[in-house]
Amino acid sequence: MTTPAPPPPDPEALALKDRLGARHIVLVGLMGAGKTSVGKRLAAAMGLNFVDSDHAIEESARMTIPEIFASRGEAEFRAGERKVIARLLSEPPQVIATGGGAFMDEETRARIKAQGVSLWLKAELPVLMKRVMRRNNRPLLQNDDPEATMRALMDKRYPVYAEADVTVLSEETPHEVMVKAVIDALSQAIDHLPPAAPAPLSPEESA
Ligand code: S3P
Repeated sequence: MTTPAPPPPDPEALALKDRLGARHIVLVGLMGAGKTSVGKRLAAAMGLNFVDSDHAIEESARMTIPEIFASRGEAEFRAGERKVIARLLSEPPQVIATGGGAFMDEETRARIKAQGVSLWLKAELPVLMKRVMRRNNRPLLQNDDPEATMRALMDKRYPVYAEADVTVLSEETPHEVMVKAVIDALSQAIDHLPPAAPAPLSPEESA
């Protein structure tokens, strides 16, 4: 089976790319919010590279996320996540989808604020649950009551996600509609946000 070709860049998205300058677009939000599926399409529309921080972590650890949680524990996963996101932010501007816990880390949040425009894909509980229950690849939800876990994560994380530069409601609409909503919201906000800070030290340099 062949993968359908991505849609060509669209003019509004290309104008947004110009105004983005040296900043990344960083998608934050809970598991199931649609960061990866929206991020991929947003990047294609803007002619930017797309990267998913979970995939980058898996590549550098040569293990899946569930394997990392099982063999090294969550604290080591978080340390790896912090390092990988710092590296991605030191690369040329791209669309970065982050794992749901990444923006909760103060250091990562500060780096994202300095180098990127953050966009929270905010979703209601039923939308999140419908999406995450399709797969069993999220260690935090492998328990008897994943819905209660998700609710607790919403309570804890939504006030922090709200610090993102832009918020877009993630709904059960076709992907193109979501991408258009994201491009519109970013286009409205972009000129009111600070430019990228001077290039940060790479994780190796700052070690
Ligand atoms: C996590 C979210 C996951 C992944 C890990 C932990 C979290 O990423 O990083 O399972 O703490 O919310 P997605 O948000 O892409 O599912």
